[in-house]
Amino acid sequence: MKKCLVGGAFIIVLIALGVWAIISCIPPPSKRCGTPGGPPITAPRIRLSDGRYLAYEEHGVSRQNATFKIIFIHAFATFRRDAVIANRVRPGFLEKNGIYVVSYDRPGYGESDPHSRRSEKTLAHDVEQLADQLQLGSKFYVVGYSMGGQAVWGVLKYIPHRLAGATLLCPVTNSWWPSFPDSLTWELWNKQTKTERFAMLITHHTPWLLYWWNHQKLFQTSAVMQSSPTIFSPQDMALLPKLAVRVSYKNQTTQQGVHESLERDLIVGFGKWGFDPMKIENPFPKGEGSVHLWQGDDDRLVPIQLQRIIAQKLSWIKYHEIPGAGHLFPNADGVAETILKELLPIPQAS
Ligand SMILES: *[C@@H]1O[C@H](CO)[C@@H](O)[C@H](O)[C@H]1NC(C)=O
Ligand SMILES: *[C@@H]1O[C@H](CO)[C@@H](O)[C@H](O)[C@H]1NC(C)=O
Repeated sequence: MKKCLVGGAFIIVLIALGVWAIISCIPPPSKRCGTPGGPPITAPRIRLSDGRYLAYEEHGVSRQNATFKIIFIHAFATFRRDAVIANRVRPGFLEKNGIYVVSYDRPGYGESDPHSRRSEKTLAHDVEQLADQLQLGSKFYVVGYSMGGQAVWGVLKYIPHRLAGATLLCPVTNSWWPSFPDSLTWELWNKQTKTERFAMLITHHTPWLLYWWNHQKLFQTSAVMQSSPTIFSPQDMALLPKLAVRVSYKNQTTQQGVHESLERDLIVGFGKWGFDPMKIENPFPKGEGSVHLWQGDDDRLVPIQLQRIIAQKLSWIKYHEIPGAGHLFPNADGVAETILKELLPIPQAS
């Protein structure tokens, strides 16, 4: 009888542990904007074909009068208000050159609805629907920064015919893209800390464990999730004061929850891709537009060795390597204007 009780208690403890383990893997539901208890809707939004809303912010000349229409795709842990190419140019630069920029919240960020089935492909179709609902015309430009690169690669793969040109700013690479030489990806892998490697394996192989991993207290989580100073180069550190203005609004970035914003970014970025970016065909075989990739040679987040391989394999990409630059270089004085002048055929660029 006693044995039976002990056995029963043991089973109950096991079940409780199992339930606790399952619960700790399940992220809390997103606090959707505009729902009771959720954050307010303050930005204009479009409704996508699957019913999700996408929030956006416009800059520069009106889209009706624009010569150049650009969709800006934000980086990790930032949102529509962090449109570096619109925020870091001199006042009047966009207007003088007939430039319109629309920046939007990627799903789960800011005021855009979360999308748990988001992928490089759905991101590309979000961009296309945004362009069509805002009536940007048959062709438009895209500029994506860092993690925003996942959407730009998606656009280049799935809707190249809609592009007038594209720019990738230190786009995040994925070591599992098949065209990277194994010897190089192993070499870079072995330089990472055990925690980084473990986090990467979870993200790639068992993304359903990522929420638990990032919220457990037993082991240290990744430097990126913590915005640890080790991810910044000396130039980045010098540029950080320019980001101080974010204090007034940055809490809106992940106001709907970190799982469908930050963690979903990692799951898409480092997950299993539906295509190899290094196999994408030149969208402009007749030179009717251009694709640019900018990378600092002191970037502590995105390995320059991998970016150079991309530049080598995709000879149609115009590769700009900036000496001494880290991951925040688009914020440096004058850089955003240079990036736009390279992308757009601005007459007598001034
Ligand atoms: C477009 O430009 C014209 C001429 O400068 C101006 O009158 C008009 O208000 C502009 N339209 C919009 C929507 O900004
Ligand atoms: C963000 O901060 C502002 C002011 O500090 C506050 O009014 C607002 O409720 C905060 N929003 C969230 C989602 O925490």
